[in-house]
Amino acid sequence: MDAMEGLCVESCERCPALVESRSRIVDGVGPADADLLFLGEAPGQQEDEGGEPFVGRSGDVLDEALRDAGIARSDVRITNCVRCRPLENRDPHKEELANCRGYLEQELDTVDPDLVVTLGKVPSEHLLERSLAVTKEAGSLHDARVGERAQRVLVSVHPAATLYDRSQRETFFETIAQAAEQAGLADAEDGQQQLGDY
Ligand code: URA
Repeated sequence: MDAMEGLCVESCERCPALVESRSRIVDGVGPADADLLFLGEAPGQQEDEGGEPFVGRSGDVLDEALRDAGIARSDVRITNCVRCRPLENRDPHKEELANCRGYLEQELDTVDPDLVVTLGKVPSEHLLERSLAVTKEAGSLHDARVGERAQRVLVSVHPAATLYDRSQRETFFETIAQAAEQAGLADAEDGQQQLGDY
């Protein structure tokens, strides 16, 4: 299979409201064979403008946690459940998640990551197919079925949550460190240096 097959959505008109609110389709970024994949909810304004997931304030927090865990952003794949920006940061509707599900399943089949980290409630519930309290279940590992594939999933709070609640920041950073370890990506030296910061 071509490495890019299943990764880019050239055009899509399935969700009328999102076709109105988006300025572009925001595909996932990162290696087509990444071991670790981060799954967010949907692009925000900055992602819509920049054409890349997690480039706004949430992205800054994610980058910082990746650095702390000794992971290079360029080594991981980052994508969203829904590829078009909903207005005013509203949650994607059920039908919008369903409309975009096939693109996500194709991306997971192509990348075949060891571990998917779900960033926040929407992506966690979308992959685990049940409701959950993400602050209670952050750091928990699950065997999920996504389309035809068995997928290991690690639940995380959303990086945006850390911007208004310091205790969530600690939870988030711990979960990203756990993801690095689970995926065998942790850089032991970097990790140890960073421990002194806390
Ligand atoms: N929040 C998300 O869930 N996804 C992004 O790409 C940016 C912010």
